[in-house]
Amino acid sequence: MKKVQFTETVLRDANQSLMATRLPYSDYEEILPVMDKAGYYSIECWGGATFDSCLRYLNEDPWERLRKLRKMLPNNKLQMLLRGQNLLGYKHYHDDVVEKFIELSIKNGIDVIRIFDALNDFRNIETALNATMKYANENTVASGCISYTQSPVHTVDKYIEMCRELQRMGFQTICLKDMAGTMTPYEAEHLIKGIKDAVGDMPLILHTHSTTGMAYMTLTKAVESGIDVIDTATSCFSGGTSQPSTETMYYALQQYGIETGLDEDIINQVNDFFKPVKQKYVDNGQINPKSLATDAQALVYKVPGGMLSNMIANLTDMGAMDKFDSALKEIPQVRKDLGYPPLVTPLSQMVGNQAVTNVLMGERYKSISKEVKNYIKGEYGIAPAPVSEELITKVLGEGGQPIDCREEDVKRTGEDFENAKKALGDLARSEEDLMSYICYPDQTLKFLKKRREQEENEAVYTIEEM
Ligand code: CO
Repeated sequence: MKKVQFTETVLRDANQSLMATRLPYSDYEEILPVMDKAGYYSIECWGGATFDSCLRYLNEDPWERLRKLRKMLPNNKLQMLLRGQNLLGYKHYHDDVVEKFIELSIKNGIDVIRIFDALNDFRNIETALNATMKYANENTVASGCISYTQSPVHTVDKYIEMCRELQRMGFQTICLKDMAGTMTPYEAEHLIKGIKDAVGDMPLILHTHSTTGMAYMTLTKAVESGIDVIDTATSCFSGGTSQPSTETMYYALQQYGIETGLDEDIINQVNDFFKPVKQKYVDNGQINPKSLATDAQALVYKVPGGMLSNMIANLTDMGAMDKFDSALKEIPQVRKDLGYPPLVTPLSQMVGNQAVTNVLMGERYKSISKEVKNYIKGEYGIAPAPVSEELITKVLGEGGQPIDCREEDVKRTGEDFENAKKALGDLARSEEDLMSYICYPDQTLKFLKKRREQEENEAVYTIEEM
C-alpha cells in the first residue's frame, strides 16, 4: 500500500503564519500527550521565529521549551526549521557558532533539522549539515530544503540539479519549500516526477501555504506524483497564510487507499483542543481575519502575499498609492537585475522596496538600499542568475568583484562565545544561555535579568513561609 506521511505544523509554521508565532507553550502543553499518539511523520515545533518570539514576547526560554516538548512527545520526531548559516536570523554566523547551535539543538531534543538558504546557495547550508551529521543520534534526520520560486531560470531541470546536489552532499531527505503558496498542481507534478526519477528512494517532502488557494490541488497532485511527506496544520489553525488542513488531507487520502499512519480519532481530538485556543486569539485580535482568507493576487504578480501587503503599507505611508501599479510592474525588472532571487524573507522585502524606490525616484537605482548593496557585494551568497553588470559597477566600482560570503564564516575564533560570557557574567548558566545571547543579545539580556528577578522574589517567599 502506498504511504504518505504528515508533518503537523500547528506548533511552529501555522501559528507563525497566522499569529506571528505568539502561541505560548502553556497554551498547548495539555494536548501534547495526545498529539504524541497521532502517528505524524514529525511535529514541527521549533526553529523559525519561535526562538525570537519566546525571548522577545513570551518570556520563555526557547531551550527550556524544547526540553519540555521532548519530554512530552517521547514517541514523535521533533522538527525545526533552520536558515543554514543564518541559523534563525538573517546574518551569517561564524562556523563555530553554527556548529554549537546544532549540537545544542540535538542535545535538547530536536530530531529533524530542515535546513535551507534563501538563495539556494548550498555553501550556506554545508556547515549546518556537517554539524548535524557529527552530532546525530539514531533519530536525527538532516533534511535539505529548497526555496521554491518561479522565474525564467528556475526550470524543472534546475530544481532536479539542486536535488541531486543535496543528495550528493549527504542529506537524508529533500523538502520543497513553497513559502508563497504559488506552486501550481501542474508544476508540482512535473517537479516531483522529475525529482523522484533523479534521486530514487530519497524521501521527498512538500511544504506549501494555502495563501493563494492553490495548496489542496497542489498537494493532491503531489500525492499522485509520488510525494512521501506533506506539511499540514490541524484544521482550525489551517488555511489562509497557514498550511492546508491535516484532517481534510487525511480524509481525502483515505479514499485514495493511501496509508497515512494517522489515527483519525486523535487528529480530531487535537483539533477540538485547539479550537478555543484559536478563538481566544481571534477575539483578542492577534489572529487577523485577513490572514485566514484566500488571496489569489500572489498568482497574478508571482510574488508572495506578504510582499504585496508590505508594498501597499509602504506606499500608503508615503501617500503614493497611485504608484502601486507602476511599482508592481517594476518588480520583474528589479528581480531580473538581481539575478532572480527566490522571494523569501528578507529578499522579498528588498526587491519590493527597491521597486518602490525606483518608481518614486522616477529613475532606476538612483538610490539603492544598504541591504541591496550588501546583496550585490555578495554577502548573501551567489544569486541564481548573474546580477546585472551595470548594477555591480554602480555598487562596487569599475572592475569591483563580489566577496566570498563564506570567508568570514570559517574563522573559528570562539570570539562570539567569549563576548557572550563577558556580557552576561553570572547571568549565564549554560551554553544554551550563551547561544541565545549570540543569536539575540538584547532580548536575551532582558530575559535573563528577568529570570534572576523572578527567582529572587521566589526565594524571598520561601524564606518568609518558613
Ligand atoms: Co512555511
